[in-house]
Amino acid sequence: MKTPVTITVTGAAGQIAYSLLFRIASGSMLGCDQPVNLRLLEIEPAMKALNGVVMELQDCAFPLVNDIVATCDPDEAFKDANWCILVGSVPRKAGMERKDLLSINGKLFIGQGKSIAANAAKDVRVFVVGNPCNTNALIAMKNAAGVPNDRFFAMTRLDENRAKSQLADKAGVHVSRVTNMAIWGNHSATQYPDWTNAKIDGKPVTDLISDMDWLKGEFITTVQQRGAAIIAARGLSSAASAANAAVDTVRSLSFPTPEGDWHSVAVCSDGSYGIEAGIICSFPIRTKEDGSWEIVQGLPIDAFSREKIDATVNELLEEKAAVSDIL
Ligand code: NAI
Repeated sequence: MKTPVTITVTGAAGQIAYSLLFRIASGSMLGCDQPVNLRLLEIEPAMKALNGVVMELQDCAFPLVNDIVATCDPDEAFKDANWCILVGSVPRKAGMERKDLLSINGKLFIGQGKSIAANAAKDVRVFVVGNPCNTNALIAMKNAAGVPNDRFFAMTRLDENRAKSQLADKAGVHVSRVTNMAIWGNHSATQYPDWTNAKIDGKPVTDLISDMDWLKGEFITTVQQRGAAIIAARGLSSAASAANAAVDTVRSLSFPTPEGDWHSVAVCSDGSYGIEAGIICSFPIRTKEDGSWEIVQGLPIDAFSREKIDATVNELLEEKAAVSDIL
């Protein structure tokens, strides 16, 4: 039997975790031969609900679950963690400015960054889902002394999946035929779903979709505003699809990317494509055979794409400036 991988999930009594934990435990994320230790972190008032989630995990009798620890102590939760999936964050409330949200969550991610550095396994990877996820990941990275920058990620895979689904629907093809869909920038309404480099059956999307107005307009805004559309329809934010995207991301970072394709995840920029080094920005990423990852280089960026990428990168720079005192 393989050695269990220790996975810490924060916000473990929340709605995303309610989908995510069962997918992890069933083997969807790391494979059906990979046992896992689950470390579940919540705040004190949510511990009763978290215990209910643990009871349900036990009632699934998952063969791959080695053990489960539920706690409100970050140091205990991050102990020996190989993967930290940071879902928990404080939601924006009525009357709260974006700057207030950044600063409240900033404090949370300072503490978690320090605790990860002090307690997690040497090979730890930190994947932030909780919003504003790019800047939360930046704060955690800056506060996790000794953990290399290439271990920090923020989730834009839900946006990639949404974009693929929109393109497939428009072209009248199955979603599996859409590849090379990169999300650039921030996980927010400024993100850029890059249809110019995406492919359907290995060919430019414009071979099947000739409606340029749709590609340049409605396609992009639909993807950018899909989260708000789900809230309007469901009365709650995306949870199962967010959990699914988290599973997809960790899988894609754990196994080599299929030849010629890429996946979207926000990583620490190295200055590629003229994007300021050091911010957590979504790029097209390939995972290599040895488990490391690289930003796909040399993609053509036309004037339309450049403008969109610059807009979302500028927003990331503004967010960084708003939290500069805690970086
Ligand atoms: P939720 O409110 O149902 O759950 C969040 C949980 O986090 C709560 O149970 C809360 O008690 C917990 N929590 C708060 N502070 C914590 C702390 N310091 N330590 C541990 N746990 C803590 O929210 P939901 O729907 O599960 O969403 C979680 C986050 O994911 C939100 O910030 C949401 O905006 C974000 N999200 C991100 C997406 C992405 O694509 N990156 C997509 C969808 C949601």
